[in-house]
Amino acid sequence: MSDDAQTPEGVRPEVAAAVGDWRAYVEAKIGFRNHWYPVRFSNELVEGQLITVQVLGEKLLLKRIDGKVYAIRDRCLHRGVPLSRKPDCYTKDTITCWYHGYTYRFQTGELVNILAVPDSRLIGRRKIQSFPVQEAKGLIFVFIGDLDPVPPLNQDVPPGFLDDDVMILGKHRVVNSNWRLGAENGFDALHIFIHKDTTLRHFRTFNFPIGHTPLPGAVKTVEDADGPKGVIDDFAQHKPIWDGEIDGRVVVRGPRSQQVQGTSASVGTSIWLPGVLKVESFPMPGLTQFEWYVPLDAKTHLYVQTIGQQVQTDEERTEFANNFESIYKPHGLDGFNADDIWAREVTEPFYADDYGWVDEMLCEPDTTILAWRKLASRANRGIQTPQDLR
Ligand code: FES
Repeated sequence: MSDDAQTPEGVRPEVAAAVGDWRAYVEAKIGFRNHWYPVRFSNELVEGQLITVQVLGEKLLLKRIDGKVYAIRDRCLHRGVPLSRKPDCYTKDTITCWYHGYTYRFQTGELVNILAVPDSRLIGRRKIQSFPVQEAKGLIFVFIGDLDPVPPLNQDVPPGFLDDDVMILGKHRVVNSNWRLGAENGFDALHIFIHKDTTLRHFRTFNFPIGHTPLPGAVKTVEDADGPKGVIDDFAQHKPIWDGEIDGRVVVRGPRSQQVQGTSASVGTSIWLPGVLKVESFPMPGLTQFEWYVPLDAKTHLYVQTIGQQVQTDEERTEFANNFESIYKPHGLDGFNADDIWAREVTEPFYADDYGWVDEMLCEPDTTILAWRKLASRANRGIQTPQDLR
């Protein structure tokens, strides 16, 4: 076998064969297709605006027309150039390729005209690929795949995210690591060690051990046919470690308060297909953090960080928005999660050639990560491959 041999999914075959029942996860280098992914916040795309986004290696054009968002592939059928290189929109619902005039309708992807060849036999008979779009909770979700019918969005988001009384605010940024390192960083029970100096301790009173190991029963998988598929890790069933010792001397202590019993109040995490984390009671009691690791390509992901709070009144909405800007975003999404981003990017080289999946040396708390890899491998709706981008 040559050094650069790869499976159709672009993975080294000996690695894919070695990992057993989570092979599909290793093969999902650019993500799982036939799922919904958030790509931008709704307020980032105003009426008539055209933007480009990348998801699972697909380059898309998004446009809001009469309030509704449409997505088509950013590649002309004629000679394959990106339409976004010089967008020519002569009508509100079409885009004309800048090169030779092929013209597509955003709503359907249909080739509706070739301006310089108006009697072409191709007109009305060809389509550029279009993608289903749905907006929810202030986010624009795009379905990447070809399933028909398209599964409902509520099967691809964590329980509670779409609840009527939950208000969602957030931000996004590009992280230079594969999406799986993002997902595993978030769900990794042991990674709490990196957060021992968090500035969040100045804003809430909580107990934050330097490590914790799930006890039997802490980790559960959820695979209901009509619901989201995920793994839940209940922190209440963990054995915490508060102090780190070397040669009998305490060298590290986790933040610990006399006012709070147990570990980190009711914090628990869960991860759901296609790669979205839910952290309860975080970054403050009464809040829930939902965050996506959206594959852009094999080496980068869009980190979509959101915080949700139940609100009943306009006053509560305003208060949540103010706290989000003054506390939750700077000290949670920016401060606390900065360490996570840094860790993912530094981990990337080890896994970039695939061998990290077999060379890693996991330990006891990492059973949570293995549970996620196995669940994702058996419950996904398909693997995005380089061939899907042709
Ligand atoms: Fe687009 Fe020719 S490449 S019209």
